[in-house]
Amino acid sequence: MTSPGRTVLITGASSGIGRATALQLAEEGADLVLLARSRETLDAVSEECEALGARTLVTVADVGEPESLAAAFRDAEEEFGPLDGVVHSAAVLAYGRFEDVPAEVFDAAIHTTLTGTANVARESLQSFATSGGGSLVVIGSLLGKISTPFMSSYVTAKWGVHGLVRTLQIEARSTPGIDISLVWPGGVDTPVYLQAGTYLERHGRPPPPVDPPEKVARAVVRALDRPQREVSVGLANHLVVTGFRAVPAVFDAIVTPLMRVGGLSREEVENSPGNVLSPVTEGEAVHGRWGRHWMRGATLAGAALGAGAGIVRTVNPRRS
Ligand SMILES: NC(=O)c1ccc[n+]([C@@H]2O[C@H](COP(=O)([O-])OP(=O)(O)OC[C@H]3O[C@@H](n4cnc5c(N)ncnc54)[C@H](OP(=O)(O)O)[C@@H]3O)[C@@H](O)[C@H]2O)c1
Repeated sequence: MTSPGRTVLITGASSGIGRATALQLAEEGADLVLLARSRETLDAVSEECEALGARTLVTVADVGEPESLAAAFRDAEEEFGPLDGVVHSAAVLAYGRFEDVPAEVFDAAIHTTLTGTANVARESLQSFATSGGGSLVVIGSLLGKISTPFMSSYVTAKWGVHGLVRTLQIEARSTPGIDISLVWPGGVDTPVYLQAGTYLERHGRPPPPVDPPEKVARAVVRALDRPQREVSVGLANHLVVTGFRAVPAVFDAIVTPLMRVGGLSREEVENSPGNVLSPVTEGEAVHGRWGRHWMRGATLAGAALGAGAGIVRTVNPRRS
């Protein structure tokens, strides 16, 4: 268990959930190691955190590159001593039908999101083993438990992330003091949807219900303190997972129309790899453009999906 005054390394600290987590930990006066690929944004986050009372170290590293990650962990320990916690939030994705996403972009997204998680976990476990313990919190996703069209790299990587984390949790039973938690959000209002690559001439958007990144950050900080196997953040998460598992045929029939209505922009954009191959600094921020007004106005597409599936199951319990 960690406590205020703790040292926490955060990957993906320049944007969205990682950045919101850094700001929350800064308020309690933690020592923060801020990690991402873009120094410019990390420097700005560092200033924000120090203004709130934290000490910070900016570490520019790519989670897909083990050497740069190892150097970041070394620098962190030299600056602040042993790490009490690691929050792994870094991920990227590209929208598009599987066959339309260039192989290079698909592979790079998987490399960052899945292999990057393995790299961060490896460094964290080595560091905790040396110091006698620590708490790793990995951000998974609702899409680590269900499937959706046009996000194949993300779904593939997140299913892998969930599998890896569950395996590490079981293995950690033999290493007391080392804890691993999985926080899996539904839709969150962050820049990730605009930063993502796209080969659909549309950018993504979070399907409702949409939570603010601060809510996920609170769950992450709680998990650092009181590790848990899994923490779901998102009103409709369990309902949607139930629909996906209980009545897959119904799920498959309705998920593509729902994705087109709730998960993609109406406006056309140019196809591009977004931030998959290199950072897009100007798009980095805590929030995206889907705040409260978006949540109020939108239908609970996810809830409808789960509820619809549940109704069909009740009417025809043997159908799957
Ligand atoms: N937003 C949602 O609706 C949602 C829902 C469920 C789960 N999640 C998960 O929540 C986590 C955070 O997502 P977010 O929405 O906060 O995304 P975001 O705003 O796009 O932030 C992603 C962060 O990851 C960093 N990053 C990307 N590639 C990296 C690399 N190779 N090495 C190091 N850092 C890298 C980015 O900085 P640089 O580009 O500068 O490196 C950025 O700081 C992800 O794991 C995501 O899958 C998000």
